[in-house]
Amino acid sequence: MDENQIIAMPRIGEAAPEFKAVTTQGEINFPSEYKGSWAILFSHPADFTPVCTSEFMTFASLESKFAEANCKLVGLSVDGLYSHIAWLRTIKEKIEYKGMKDVEVKFPLIEDITMEVAKKYGMMMPGESSTKAVRAVFFVDPKGIIRAIIYYPLSLGRNFDELYRALIAMQTADAFSIATPADWRPGDDVIVPPAGSCGVAKDRMENKEEMKCYDWFFCTKKLSEETVLSTILKK
Ligand code: BEZ
Repeated sequence: MDENQIIAMPRIGEAAPEFKAVTTQGEINFPSEYKGSWAILFSHPADFTPVCTSEFMTFASLESKFAEANCKLVGLSVDGLYSHIAWLRTIKEKIEYKGMKDVEVKFPLIEDITMEVAKKYGMMMPGESSTKAVRAVFFVDPKGIIRAIIYYPLSLGRNFDELYRALIAMQTADAFSIATPADWRPGDDVIVPPAGSCGVAKDRMENKEEMKCYDWFFCTKKLSEETVLSTILKK
């Protein structure tokens, strides 16, 4: 494998690299077909493996929740289309796991035997495996910009609550021009950007605005769960 190709990695704030791919839902052009929606492009190591199966069942069960937040899912592994189809059929017909059964994976799963897309997105990490993609997650915004990237090794199944929390937090940051503190969830206080001038900072410290300031550089304000969810989620 050509090392130079492997280390090419898209970064946060950059346009998501374009590709055309064959998937279980037909051909897709990424990210152009996804403009106007958020997209989560994620890789898994291999079809017919247990951690990946638990992840696909979880993601498929949450697909409508992500769709309500204007986010589409796209999976990828270094497997062929017929393997993908056979694996997803097995999941639907045979696997019952943690109360999930008859689970149909309706989002596209990319076949990437050539590793073309996996290499383009830095999903191959030879120290971990030279033939399997690691568990990468790329959050791409409605303008096609990469906004967050999370990586997990082969043995570690992802936390889907965290993927959803990160999506809602980024959408909230965009909609309300705020930032979100550690472990933020809708309904928790949000961080207002640092004050641009001494006057603003002084007002904040004197609580003229409805903020709580821990110091001049660290102010929060209330943002109700209802306001967040009614702004972000599609009815
Ligand atoms: C799994 O999904 O179970 C798995 C895949 C590749 C390596 C290790 C575990």
